[in-house]
Order: sequence, then C-alpha cells, then structure tokens
Amino acid sequence: MMTVLKTLVVAAVLAVLGALTFLYSGLYSIGADNKHFKVTHWALETLRERSIAREIRDIKVPRLDDPQQLLAGGQDYNDMCSGCHLQPGKTQSDLNSAMYPQPPNLSLQPAKGLYGDANARAARHFWYIKHGIKASGMPAWGQTHTDERIWAMVAFIQKLPTLTPEQYQILTAPEEGATDEPMAGM
Ligand code: HEC
Repeated sequence: MMTVLKTLVVAAVLAVLGALTFLYSGLYSIGADNKHFKVTHWALETLRERSIAREIRDIKVPRLDDPQQLLAGGQDYNDMCSGCHLQPGKTQSDLNSAMYPQPPNLSLQPAKGLYGDANARAARHFWYIKHGIKASGMPAWGQTHTDERIWAMVAFIQKLPTLTPEQYQILTAPEEGATDEPMAGM
C-alpha cells in the first residue's frame, strides 16, 4: 500500500515538474496563426460550453419586439460589433479573417436548433455580450453598458440574419440630431 502511494506521489510531482518545464521552455507557440491541436480545441470548447450552460440558467429573457430596441441595438451593433461580426452584404473583413478564434458571422442564419430554442439563444447572446470570452477577443461589454442596452443588441441580433443590406442600412443609421456622433451638426 505504501509503495503504491509513494509511486503516485512521485508520478504527481513529475507531472507538475514536466508541466512547469514545458511552460517555461517557450516551446508552446502562442501565435494566433498557429492553430490548436484537435484535443486542445475540444477541451476549450467543452470548457466554454459547460461554463455558459451553467451560467445562463437563471437569465430571464425580456420581450425583444420593441421597434425602439431594434433601432438602438442596430446602431450599437453597427458601431461596436460589425467590424468583427460582419453585416448583410459584407461577408469578410480583415479583422474577421485574421482573428483566432474567428468571430462568427452574425448576419447568417444559425443552424436550426443550434444552442437550443429562440429563448435559449437569446439568453446565450446576452451572456456572451455582457461577459465576453477570455483570450478570444470577444469583449465583455457589460463593463461599460447597461443590461437594457445589451438586450437591445440581443433583439437586433435575432433579426439580423433576416435583413437585406438596405434594411440594415436603414436600421443602423444614426438618428436625426443624435449627439453621440462626433461630426453631428457640423
Ligand atoms: C474584436 C472582435 C470582436 C468584437 C468587436 C465583438 N466580438 Fe463578439 N465575438 C468575437 C469572437 C472572437 C467570438 C467567438 C468567441 C468564441 O470562440 O467563443 C465572439 C462571439 C460572439 C457571440 C457568440 C455567438 C455564438 O455563436 O454563440 C456573440 C453573440 C457576440 N460575439 C456578439 C457581439 C456583439 C453584440 C458585439 C458588439 C457589442 C461584439 N460581439 C463585438 C469577437 C468580437
């Protein structure tokens, strides 16, 4: 019994030393142009999906059909998100194709049933926008934006895949007399 225990302790110490040696060696390529191994990819995705599934359980999705919400969410989306997440008629950007992980094109219809029903998808989108994803480039907008403003973006994103490029332009145009436009009234 004692020898088994000793062997286990030695193995654990060696594993920790091995991991530390690897960490300090610089052999791991941190470059975004060097893709993950399949197993790393799987581990990271599992970590993300399990975490999100647990954290969105208590999110209550409000009504998302107010036209004012769509307008406010549309402007915010166009200003803060479309560079990474694209828009109808714009299927590529340098930012989008150079990032790893690559930001999903939110103007495309998600695969049917992906991430559950409409309610589950909205809750997921809210969580994503509010908290962001570590080491992925997806910012945590909840640091600087109210829940109300985030829900407006969620409302807009649910409609986004159904919009034509023209409808997108209309919905995301800054309001007349808007003051947060740097050049407004000039
Ligand atoms: C600098 C680039 C960048 C910006 C700007 C950005 N995102 Fe993201 N976003 C990402 C990346 C990268 C991911 C994928 C993260 C991952 O792999 O989980 C992502 C994921 C998401 C997802 C999850 C989609 C899904 O399939 O579940 C949503 C929703 C989202 N972003 C919304 C937004 C919104 C809304 C904004 C603007 C307020 C925004 N993002 C701004 C990079 C960005």
